[in-house]
Amino acid sequence: MPSVPVFDADAVLAAVTPSAAIERTRTAFLRHHAGEWVMPAKTYVDAPPAGDFRAMPARGEGIAILKWVTSFPENPARGLPVVTGALLVSSAETGELLAIVDCASVTSLRTGAAAAVSAQALARADAASVGLIGCGVNGAWAARCLAAAGYSAGVCSDPRADAAEALAGELGWRVGSREEAAAQAVVVTVTPGDAPVIGASDVRPGAHFAVLGADAHGKAEVEVAALARCRLFCDEWEQASKGGELSGAVAAGTVTRESVTELGAVLAGEAPGRSGDGEITLFDSTGLAIQDLAIALAVLDTWRSGGVEAPTVSL
Ligand SMILES: NC(=O)c1ccc[n+]([C@@H]2O[C@H](COP(=O)([O-])OP(=O)(O)OC[C@H]3O[C@@H](n4cnc5c(N)ncnc54)[C@H](O)[C@@H]3O)[C@@H](O)[C@H]2O)c1
Repeated sequence: MPSVPVFDADAVLAAVTPSAAIERTRTAFLRHHAGEWVMPAKTYVDAPPAGDFRAMPARGEGIAILKWVTSFPENPARGLPVVTGALLVSSAETGELLAIVDCASVTSLRTGAAAAVSAQALARADAASVGLIGCGVNGAWAARCLAAAGYSAGVCSDPRADAAEALAGELGWRVGSREEAAAQAVVVTVTPGDAPVIGASDVRPGAHFAVLGADAHGKAEVEVAALARCRLFCDEWEQASKGGELSGAVAAGTVTRESVTELGAVLAGEAPGRSGDGEITLFDSTGLAIQDLAIALAVLDTWRSGGVEAPTVSL
């Protein structure tokens, strides 16, 4: 009978700080780019009309993971989270199950961390302020990760004034309109993606956009005319071209593989990032299983060194 630790959200967030999540996530992009970590395609299981499930496997650094995670956009109205599920961690040497991990907290850490890694790699060196459009669960963690990365000023925008106020108060940022948020040096969008929140007039020279909300086909946060003005980056072309911000433009033929650079290639120094202070960069995050693997590894490392406790279950 294997006995495995079970990490709830509190344990995950106690085990992995936003700064650690950023370092682990950067490593994930690098290892994947080098071909050392492998990641079969994410599989979507639609559950119309309410949402969808995603099965996300990956292997690297001696472990293999499977994340079984949801996106049910209308759930907050039911008092339920948009993102929920579990992540299984197994040994890649013996196949043994090693841990069961809450996946909403892992998702939030690695999603926010990806926004921070993209800003560190692609934003102007003098970029100091963040505009956050969408201050829900994952938007809040994106803001915490950007704050941990040194962005000490920010504008929080959300039709839910209480969400924007709470986050701004926590980080010492301020509440502002969508237009004000979109005018900051680094703009992060984490809305449900059912209508664009960035138009062509919002896209200003020198800005960096990290667009996180559109993580499935049919979602978009940026108008096509705005996309056309940006130099484009993504987490992984295969996934982003099929189920991300870019997928509509890819289907329409206005964005091609040649016009999009994967972030891992930039981090590895094998592809150019920002080419000048006036360039507008846009990072399309769709959320990769290798990012989840990186956070799961961090949780296990902290637990093994006694930094966090977790109950065990026998299966
Ligand atoms: N890229 C990734 O890796 C990744 C990871 C997790 C979630 N997501 C996606 O991110 C999106 C948000 O997820 P969440 O868990 O944070 O949901 P959430 O419901 O907690 O937060 C969404 C927030 O967006 C706000 N919002 C809605 N319309 C807005 C608008 N026009 N302007 C500003 N704010 C607006 C809502 O009021 C809410 O606070 C979903 O589409 C989800 O699928 C992407």
